[in-house]
Amino acid sequence: MNMLEIPTKTHDESRQGEAYTPVGEESVLFSKKFYIESYGCQMNFSDSEIVASILHQEGFGATKHFEEASLILLNTCSIREKAEQTIRKRLTEFRKTKEKKPDLLIGILGCMAERLKAKLLEEEKLVDIVVGPDAYRSLPTLIAEAETGQKAVNVLLSREETYADISPIRIDSNGVTAFVSIMRGCNNMCSFCVVPFTRGRERSRNADSILAEVQDLFNRGFKEVTLLGQNVDSYHWYNESTKTSVNFAELLEKVALISPLLRVRFSTSHPKDITDDVLFTMAKYKNICKYIHLPIQSGNSRILQLMNRTYSREWYLAKVDRIKAIMPDCAISTDIITGFCSETEADHQDTLTAMQYAQYDYAYMFFYSERPGTLAAKRFTDDVPEEVKKRRLQEIIQLQNELSKKSYTNDIGKTFEVLIEGESKKDSTHWKGRNSQNKMLVFPKKNYTYKPGDYVQVYVQDATQATLLGEIIA
Ligand code: 5AD
Ligand code: SF4
Repeated sequence: MNMLEIPTKTHDESRQGEAYTPVGEESVLFSKKFYIESYGCQMNFSDSEIVASILHQEGFGATKHFEEASLILLNTCSIREKAEQTIRKRLTEFRKTKEKKPDLLIGILGCMAERLKAKLLEEEKLVDIVVGPDAYRSLPTLIAEAETGQKAVNVLLSREETYADISPIRIDSNGVTAFVSIMRGCNNMCSFCVVPFTRGRERSRNADSILAEVQDLFNRGFKEVTLLGQNVDSYHWYNESTKTSVNFAELLEKVALISPLLRVRFSTSHPKDITDDVLFTMAKYKNICKYIHLPIQSGNSRILQLMNRTYSREWYLAKVDRIKAIMPDCAISTDIITGFCSETEADHQDTLTAMQYAQYDYAYMFFYSERPGTLAAKRFTDDVPEEVKKRRLQEIIQLQNELSKKSYTNDIGKTFEVLIEGESKKDSTHWKGRNSQNKMLVFPKKNYTYKPGDYVQVYVQDATQATLLGEIIA
């Protein structure tokens, strides 16, 4: 499997603990209020927007303050043990609030709900409602059940559910960029990964509903969409009425054609599935961003085989060459897991040399965390000692820091088209926005009348490891 973690700050732990409210003042119109926190991948953040929409229909308004909510929801992640631990801690805090406010309902959504099922409700008595990723439509019924003191669990996985007809309510929106879910589930059986078990079988969403959602976003002023799926390149939708099908390259083109002023991104790609058609479509349209998140996981072919990634080191690196040949200006990022079962020092060196070869612009780096029920947990021993995992991870991070620095420094003196997303957090006299390659730029507003959602040309004068600093060119 491949996860959808685009290298913005939304990745995993970086957003943990933050809470989002779908609607602002509108919430005063509702008598009942809910509070939601999202953890993990962007798919979860996107799902929370579907949940917000379902609850809205039921008369629940969102609040940013959990103290005023009658319903607290946590949309959870199971990808690594640490993610689950953080969420458990947070749940315990909410339990304390419930002691003072017995009517408060606490619900757990997402991957942890799916993985632990009724255990959270029965044995641990941590929550009142447990809902898996394919069962959000049943939330109103489950809330009603929980209100009468019944056990409220629905963790049924579906082969069809894509929530195609539900208009997500944009949470914490900057009004410029939005996620659009195009498929759910994952059929890859990467041996380390819990996702096929928590998110079920792969299914693609109706292309017409995707296009309608994107068109609506554009009409409302949004200028960038990120098409989301665990493995977007295996998107395939068959239209029963026209007897035609749409693959990912075709969908990408259809979305790009909505307007040249609408940027299109996508995540995540599995190296085995990203086709030349997708690469040529990216090259053909200026508004398809030149950025690919291409998780390698390991640079050693034996480890890749144990991980069931279905490609070798050489095959992966050839894919990187292909991307660069078709789009020389395309940025590439990756995910790396270090310390997988039986990984030797020599295997670890292969990961470092693969990173050198690929010259990643950025990377998400983890040490292996065994997940119950996965193929690796069943078949292999988690035998790399923790201190070795940590040391290898440090070496990987250090190398990536150098590669990122090189990539960012290389941009000094270049001019990029930047979509303004909002004010810089550190300095309200500056705008922030990203270029096509997904790099964040910060630059002074000066006396120009630009606003979020506008495109500007920015000349890069300086760079840190993760930001380009520049100036608007008139
Ligand atoms: N341990 C550590 N990292 C993992 N990932 C997925 N499963 C595990 C695990 N068991 C990483 C992969 C994936 C990213 C989202 O999380 O690198 O691409
Ligand atoms: Fe997203 Fe679930 Fe995977 Fe976590 S385990 S990254 S929430 S799909």
